[in-house]
Amino acid sequence: MSELSVNLQINGTAVARTVSPETLLVDFLREDLALTGTHQGCDTAQCGACTVLVDGAAAKSCNLLVAQVNGAAVTTIEGLAPADGGLHPMQQAFGKHHGLQCGYCTPGMVMRAVAMDGEGVPAEPAAVRCALSGNLCRCTGYHGIVNAVCEGLQQMRSLKVAVA
Ligand code: FES
Ligand code: FES
Repeated sequence: MSELSVNLQINGTAVARTVSPETLLVDFLREDLALTGTHQGCDTAQCGACTVLVDGAAAKSCNLLVAQVNGAAVTTIEGLAPADGGLHPMQQAFGKHHGLQCGYCTPGMVMRAVAMDGEGVPAEPAAVRCALSGNLCRCTGYHGIVNAVCEGLQQMRSLKVAVA
């Protein structure tokens, strides 16, 4: 099968590559661009470990071909923190509320949580639990994660933090 040329914005940087048509976005990020903060869990769009933002919306990158997002802006966990070396408010909230243990699910959880801001998800536990239903954690339990997302959303809204 012939190769495809793709042009994307990845974490604010223009990226042009040639890929095979069946290349998944998660493999492109991890293997072609060495952005290994995006994790692979189930590879069947169930666990959410591979969640990134595509034009600001949460998307499971194991369920998308690069060809489907050609021309889009993709943000991974590596592109979330400000350039000055600090942490994004959502990352700070996960640390404060112990919203992680092994960390495997964490990049996907954080990216899903950041997208909730633009979706208008209320910063309260029931709404956050519902919105997180596509992201699975095997070890922390969800209490700390939900508390972190609620505080992270409150902080994003009070600080008016833009999603890349
Ligand atoms: S690896 Fe993509 S949803 Fe599990
Ligand atoms: S922190 Fe280990 S899977 Fe969620």
